[in-house]
Amino acid sequence: MNKDLITIRQLNVKEIDEIFALTARIKKTPGRFSRTLQGKSLAMIFQKPSNRTYVSFSVGMFELGGHALYLGPEHINLGVRETVADVARTLSRFVSGIVLRTFAHQTVLDMAEAASVPVINGLSDYSHPCQALADIFTIKERFGKVKGLTLAYVGDGNNVCNSLLYAASKLGLHMRVATPKGYEPDQELMRLVLESARATGARIELLRSPQDAARNADVLYTDVWTSMGQESEFKKRLRVFKTYQINARLVSLAKKTCLVMHCLPAHRGDEITDEVIDGKHSVVFDQAENRLHVQKAVLVKLLK
Ligand code: CP
Ligand code: NVA
Repeated sequence: MNKDLITIRQLNVKEIDEIFALTARIKKTPGRFSRTLQGKSLAMIFQKPSNRTYVSFSVGMFELGGHALYLGPEHINLGVRETVADVARTLSRFVSGIVLRTFAHQTVLDMAEAASVPVINGLSDYSHPCQALADIFTIKERFGKVKGLTLAYVGDGNNVCNSLLYAASKLGLHMRVATPKGYEPDQELMRLVLESARATGARIELLRSPQDAARNADVLYTDVWTSMGQESEFKKRLRVFKTYQINARLVSLAKKTCLVMHCLPAHRGDEITDEVIDGKHSVVFDQAENRLHVQKAVLVKLLK
């Protein structure tokens, strides 16, 4: 594996399979890994809020015998108090790995370049690789496979959508993305995704209609309409995305066995209804739990 985990794009299928195999072992017998990262520390820099990422990395390090430090905006003041590169160089003298949640993706790249220790992307405006790994692991747990299934992503072509696209194209998972005009996933990313999809047979489609996307799908996925950092667009986005909601009617178009997924936090009543997120198809808390197990595997791979 590379030194860092920045996007799913940099992982090959063998590496993804290895992460999932280790995840399954860690999930089944966590006690066997309780000293794997003994004496190691992880710095976690958060420039945005977090529940799952913060708690799962903290608990994950603890359960592996290591230790995690939370560094919020008030601690580091990244790029203002000192440069990203100087923060990376300093932390590399103290800790064995860095998790970074930030705005511009370039900040993650700059941090990784300057750090001599592994840097894990804990979400940037462009991608959220740990989320996609946990999501695909969850799909695999439920269906026993990923290749040949169809995932319908309904809503904003954002960081979570981008990472799912990278993963789907590599793993032969068909993916339909339904977004309003102007909210499609990144164009250059789409070019890369379509290129890698050609090799695996994954059918990747961009659509307008949530109904067309959902029809006969194995997985329905959505995320918030307004991501962190876009708060000033909240009202506009409520209007633009109004018809891009996962509700019972949309679920009824998908397969009877379909899974409903959401990376959380959810804005109940906007992109997903209470009835659906709390309903029998929903696996949202399995996804959240699997963040812990998958990230422990990533930490072992990168920090050991
Ligand atoms: N899904 C996710 O990353 O959640 P947090 O923003 O709470 O970390
Ligand atoms: N797209 C969301 C994901 C949160 C986990 C955001 O960036 O805010």
